Amino acid sequence: MLQESTSNSTFLYRQVIDLIDDNIDSGALKPGDRLPSLRRMSKHAGVSIPTVRKAYVELERLRKVVSRPQSGFYVRRLAANPLVKPSPRFRASARPVPISGQSLMERVYDGLYQPDVVPLGIANPTMARPAAKALHRAMKRIMTRAEDRSISYAPTRGEASLRRQIAYRYLDSVGVTVEPDNICITNGGQEALLIALQTVASEGDVIAVESPTYHGQLELIDSLGMLAIEVETCPEDGVMLASLQKTLAAHPVKACMFSTTLSNPLGVSMTEEKRSELVELLTGHGVALIEDDVYGDLLFDGRRPKPALAYANNGQVLTVGSFSKTAAPGYRIGWIVAGKHMRRIGALKRSFSCSSGLLQQLTLAEFLASGDYDRHLNGLRPILQCNADRMATSICRHFPASTRTSCPVGGSVVWLELPTGVNAEKLFDDALAEGISTAPGNIFAPCHRYHNFLRLSFGHPWSDRIEQSIKWLGHRTAQLSEG
Ligand SMILES: Cc1ncc(COP(=O)(O)O)c(C=O)c1O
Repeated sequence: MLQESTSNSTFLYRQVIDLIDDNIDSGALKPGDRLPSLRRMSKHAGVSIPTVRKAYVELERLRKVVSRPQSGFYVRRLAANPLVKPSPRFRASARPVPISGQSLMERVYDGLYQPDVVPLGIANPTMARPAAKALHRAMKRIMTRAEDRSISYAPTRGEASLRRQIAYRYLDSVGVTVEPDNICITNGGQEALLIALQTVASEGDVIAVESPTYHGQLELIDSLGMLAIEVETCPEDGVMLASLQKTLAAHPVKACMFSTTLSNPLGVSMTEEKRSELVELLTGHGVALIEDDVYGDLLFDGRRPKPALAYANNGQVLTVGSFSKTAAPGYRIGWIVAGKHMRRIGALKRSFSCSSGLLQQLTLAEFLASGDYDRHLNGLRPILQCNADRMATSICRHFPASTRTSCPVGGSVVWLELPTGVNAEKLFDDALAEGISTAPGNIFAPCHRYHNFLRLSFGHPWSDRIEQSIKWLGHRTAQLSEG
């Protein structure tokens, strides 16, 4: 039974929020508990059902509760200590630097493919609920219908039916008009990022990246002979615009490569207001934005924000997407919204790989058009959310108390700050010897700065083995922190 609140807020929905807050603080509502139904709460608090709904949605935005489709709202299971602003010593590098640490990345990748490894080091959310059966059915239909064509070359810019489906999703889910002719299909998001980088920058140019950021971006910058400059991020909504502004004023940045939704590894998303301000800032400096948006469909609440692309009107933003994180990483199908750069992007795509696999493109177009993709996402998101809760609980139970973690609102990874002095590379090596893959923090920045950070993945069916692996990692972390 709820205890009475002491709130004297004038807004009715705030009174409901305060009431829930008070009950969480006093322990009357515990992590994992279901909130009273909208109707019960409306009676209890003497407010309307829409007011209660508004309060619950706000509590969800504040990450205090989570909604489960057809079930209700639940008190969130919080990690030990939510990661707050990065401490000053982890602020971004003040100058452009070449990328270091490739040998560590190689070891991490090698570890991922060791036989029978517990795959906590790979961000592969589709494994939590593979769509293999529905995709096989779609592929079978295509092979029957398209026969000879299905094994032929695709057009360089991609199969028209898939480009139409992608354009339709931009319109349907976020209200953004993208012409199918403005989309170029690529071999995964990685080739899309490669093409985007080569479209707007050349060897020696400076590219601004988030700190920490997805290691694949860093490998691209390195392979193209470019330099990276890090921009400070905050765990609430990503890139800090004030830091970016200083960086732009002090350095000849050619392009920014940022993840606007569910960045990897922090798992944070920029608000729509921030996206709009970001585009305005970059337009003022004549700097291009490569928007790495491969996780947008995996927000737990399913409410995808508008991409930064929506706020640009002159080709300043190149948005990259992919089906690797949501449907089939092995199909290697991604895309770029090319804007005014289509000619150059088409030429680069032709020279790199001619085109992407037609059968995979036709299959995905069928998968999307049939509604199976949305049904699959509706099943995948709650599983990922549940795994995120289990991961948080497990970390809380087994890792030293001073461990801090991110609170992901989607995707499949969690970012841990281990106690000072713990060497995450050593932990990575020891864990691999035990058959557990992890992703040590140092691969997420151009020069080694995240020594005591670790990224773990919860994008797999939960199992005892995973639980035991987290326990092992927690105990080993405790040993390493003792010296
Ligand atoms: C942020 C980000 N962008 C791009 C990619 C590459 O995606 P793909 O597998 O489609 O090449 C990844 C993969 O891990 C990623 O995490």
